[in-house]
Amino acid sequence: MNKNIGRQLMAALTLTSTLLLASCGGPAIPEPVSLLPQPSQVAETGNPPFELTSSTIIGYDSPELLPAAVYLGDLLSPATGYALSLREGKGDISLRLHAGGQKGAYTLTTTPEEVVISGNGYEGVIAGIQTLRQLLPDDIEATRKVSRRWAVPNVHITDAPRYEWRGLMLDVSRHFYSTEEVKELLDLMALYKMNKFHWHLTDDQGWRVEIKQYPLLTEKGAWRHFNSHDRECIRLAKAQDNPDYEIPADKLHIENGDTLYGGFYTQDEVRDIVQYAGIRGIDVVPEIDMPGHMLAAVGNYSGVACTDDTGWGTTFSSPACPGKDSAIEFCQNVYKEIFQLFPYKYVHIGGDEVEKTNWKKCPDCQKRMRDNGLKTEEQLQAWFTHQMEDFFNANGKEMIGWDEIIEGGLSETSTVMWWRSWAKNASREATTHGNKVIYTPNAPFYLDYQQDKKSVRAIYDYVPELEGMTEAQQELIMGVQGNIWCEWIPSRERMLYMAAPRMLAIAELGWSGPQQNDWTGFSRRMADQFHRLNVMDIPYRIPDLEGFNESNAFIGETKVEVSCLDSTAVIRYTTDGSIPTAASTLYEGPLQVTETTDFTFRTFRANGAKGDFVKTRFVKSEYAPATQTAPSSPGLEALWHDFRGNRCANISEAPLKGRYKIEDVCIPKRVSGNIGLIVRGYLNAPADDIYSFALLSDDGSTLAIDGEMVVDNDGPHAPKEMTGQKALKKGYHPLELRYFDSNGGTLQLKVMDSDGQVIPFTHLYMH
Ligand code: ACM
Ligand code: ZN
Repeated sequence: MNKNIGRQLMAALTLTSTLLLASCGGPAIPEPVSLLPQPSQVAETGNPPFELTSSTIIGYDSPELLPAAVYLGDLLSPATGYALSLREGKGDISLRLHAGGQKGAYTLTTTPEEVVISGNGYEGVIAGIQTLRQLLPDDIEATRKVSRRWAVPNVHITDAPRYEWRGLMLDVSRHFYSTEEVKELLDLMALYKMNKFHWHLTDDQGWRVEIKQYPLLTEKGAWRHFNSHDRECIRLAKAQDNPDYEIPADKLHIENGDTLYGGFYTQDEVRDIVQYAGIRGIDVVPEIDMPGHMLAAVGNYSGVACTDDTGWGTTFSSPACPGKDSAIEFCQNVYKEIFQLFPYKYVHIGGDEVEKTNWKKCPDCQKRMRDNGLKTEEQLQAWFTHQMEDFFNANGKEMIGWDEIIEGGLSETSTVMWWRSWAKNASREATTHGNKVIYTPNAPFYLDYQQDKKSVRAIYDYVPELEGMTEAQQELIMGVQGNIWCEWIPSRERMLYMAAPRMLAIAELGWSGPQQNDWTGFSRRMADQFHRLNVMDIPYRIPDLEGFNESNAFIGETKVEVSCLDSTAVIRYTTDGSIPTAASTLYEGPLQVTETTDFTFRTFRANGAKGDFVKTRFVKSEYAPATQTAPSSPGLEALWHDFRGNRCANISEAPLKGRYKIEDVCIPKRVSGNIGLIVRGYLNAPADDIYSFALLSDDGSTLAIDGEMVVDNDGPHAPKEMTGQKALKKGYHPLELRYFDSNGGTLQLKVMDSDGQVIPFTHLYMH
């Protein structure tokens, strides 16, 4: 039986047995409990389940829980078709509020007669509701009535969050999302017990929140002509046959025949979102980024930047002018309105990536520095931030800033959001100083970066603390957050694809204890969630297909066997280099390959929507003969070129800076700054075999053996591993590896034999 027919048949059988059970009223088969994030303790009692019926009553023991009860009723009613009654006091499902204890903790107890959720604070009750939601069949997420039994397995769960901050940031400036789209993301966050929505409301490319005192911020600042990001999205939509990159028509505004892109939230819409989030136990943290990333503001009001001639500097845009009282007043007036809209105590000032060249030339900035004894422009930014922080505090707010706020002097009370993983000590410095820290390290927590087969695990296995931190420092780590920067994310579909499933790993890292770290278990539970996400119509990223490398070698003939962690994914392929469509050949099981073949495999969602495609080459090979040369020195030779380009082929043209001997493929210790490396030597193949070469780099790298490209991992990118294969005869084979990066980066090569055994680098390399 082929796999896909098998899958469809299984789905049909499952459906039939469910319907049969439903119609004859026998005992429901308890489903194995699969929850994400994993709770602290789950005891399955083995007793009959609780059945949700049209007469189930939701009880709540305190008026404060009425919104939670309404929320639960609204969650359960579309799929069940039941209009469940609510009652203050005891119900069949009872929500109870506990004062004190760890915030967000809860217990959930099921018996055949009732479900009791007892939460520490409102947030704990909401967390318990999400667990109940996940205990119910995936169909509970359907927006239309599904006729089936609604059984909740009989369990006793005790649960509490590891961190108080489990956040997600959405950049609505680079591309805009409607209130409905934001609410959908909030719903998804709630499902995984994420509780902080960091709303990046303003940036150079668009001002997205109505400020009554400064109407031009949205009248003009919310709209733009297509920029380079938009044009790249439009290009990618075509090049990758991916409609998710298209600029949605509802974000366009035609004015006098001119097409403008944008949008903004009115203050009423902001209040509505804040309330919607609050009901789901989510605090909304607004960010009005300043003093940099403000082009959409400074271009529309004079007296805010150093001069009215605003635009782009060498790296970033014209910032606000800390030397002008009018600028400070503008910034504070904006925040005055923001404070009224957002009840949560934390507010984010941004503070990242400020280009200070204008400040060096501005007489007002220079006077401010003289008057306040400030020696550097970094101190001037710190002075500005402290002015703003005093204003925040006077209005009952606490400030968060990106980790640049450490430079030039950190205040006592601001919270640092650590993102620059290259500023390695930022979180140590902040916590030593007694400041709280939120971890959002670039690259793993930057959800705008393309995903690959390692990106979920890189988050899941991340340890959000630094070695040697004291207990007191660890207590200052508030939690973790993923950032969805949206330069190249123009649509709801693309945004959700970038968020999920990585946000599931962030949710679990933030919620479950480190002792529960279990990648295999997490992968299985994540795969279970794909079924639920399909019912919710969330276009998550289908995990990478497995069973091949970027390039593969075989002798004679081979079998290509492709698999996917997501059992709902449909796989199609071509062998003519074209991108597979819904009409391409369905992958139905192992493929016999006897000649060199270029495959393009593509996944499709259960609903037929197009997913990613991947190209892989299976090369019919002979064992490449070894060289007659007998190299005499162990290790490899590395040449460091002062390279500023972004293609490995061009490294040799850059000036040579140094020559090193290395034992293994690595960036030599003294090599930093602008790196272009050419590593040469010989690979000593221990036997006739097909070898795999896994080349990990940030940025680009290439590997040639016997003068033939084996791994092409070229171009600027975040850490990315690519694997190629080559059949080699025992003996020495000339090797050339190239690598470039401009800020330290990563370089690693793993060599494996055909059994997948990693060959230790000692004895592997000679030159
Ligand atoms: C940032 O990514 N600029 C905070
Ligand atoms: Zn200035």
